[in-house]
Amino acid sequence: PRLSEILSLHDFEAVARRVMPEKAWAYYSSAADDEITHRENHAAFHRIWFRPRVLRDVTKVDWSTTILGHRSSMPVYITATALGKLGHPDGELNLTRAAARHGIIQMIPTLASCSFDEIVNAARPDQVLFFQLYVNKDRSITKRIVQHAEARGIKALFITVDAPQLGRREKDMRQRFEAEDPSEVSKAGQGNTDRSQGAARAISSFIDPGLSWADLDWFRSITKMPLVLKGVQCWEDALEAYDRGLDGVVLSNHGGRQLDFARSGIEVLVEVVAKFKEKRGVNFPIDTFQVFVDGGVRRATDVIKAIALGATAVGIGRPFLYAYSSYGAEGIDKALQILHDEFEMNMRLLGSRTIREIVPEMVDASNIHIH
Ligand code: FNR
Repeated sequence: PRLSEILSLHDFEAVARRVMPEKAWAYYSSAADDEITHRENHAAFHRIWFRPRVLRDVTKVDWSTTILGHRSSMPVYITATALGKLGHPDGELNLTRAAARHGIIQMIPTLASCSFDEIVNAARPDQVLFFQLYVNKDRSITKRIVQHAEARGIKALFITVDAPQLGRREKDMRQRFEAEDPSEVSKAGQGNTDRSQGAARAISSFIDPGLSWADLDWFRSITKMPLVLKGVQCWEDALEAYDRGLDGVVLSNHGGRQLDFARSGIEVLVEVVAKFKEKRGVNFPIDTFQVFVDGGVRRATDVIKAIALGATAVGIGRPFLYAYSSYGAEGIDKALQILHDEFEMNMRLLGSRTIREIVPEMVDASNIHIH
């Protein structure tokens, strides 16, 4: 279909499935085991309903916000996804340039197909970028990467904590990355690669399963960047992060690619918000500890639900990959334009003129149980 026929972020997935190379589709779309969590991620939003307010003069609505102190044209950032060139020769640069055009923030992945410096060099001088970190067993390598990121102006470090070992993504594993495969896979890795079990496993063998809470002080000692844990999945760990002075958490199950039957980030958000209030008297959102959600976000209404419940912003992954793999740069422009249009309409219909006016009373999350 022509790009003008694309009406929602869901549409990009249907197109991508047909036009993307098989290996790329397998890597981007796959999730762990039976993919139950992957399906649940979007489905969980279906359990939350709106309580709109009327008669509020919504002529002007503004959905811009700040994320870790940085302006963003919407409460959405581009989350880290590895191997951007599998779907399009420009890889992550598609995302970097689109982020600049639309005033949003990109989180650069450790396992990008483009080199880190290529990505930073493609950004505008004042463009805000975050960095997603996989921690290497060899901490000297991690230290070098983190300090280089800070020197290049990266504004926050998102340490991925849900992947001590990579999940089994069987769709991807069936696509063997053969030894002679000239793909991006070996370039992205930081050590030995085993190419017999799909792209994901080939590049991940350097990740340290020994990473623990005790390591976080070390991160604090090597960088001044805000530290956010990506992949927190219950209130206990969120509270631990808060008590240890971290700057935030991403409630995420890695797009369903790690532990199958992990709950969705939006569901976890409900208990995190309730328990922080009960145990620490915290009412989100607060500036000193920001909570993010990712997984299955496909509509501005999904984002608005997360904001109402206390999240600062949400991450979106696959839809942008599908958009640029199918239509190049114009595809991401279209995806972001769709989101902007959806924000305008839905904020009007909800009766909130600003992000601050999207309050907890505007959602009914009583279908979600608090553990
Ligand atoms: C990811 N994700 C991810 N996360 C991370 O911390 N490091 C990584 O290298 C990757 N790589 C990656 C590749 C691909 C192809 C996907 C789809 C996802 C997880 C990502 O940051 C995020 O948690 C999910 O993608 C969010 O779900 P949606 O928006 O894709 O449904």
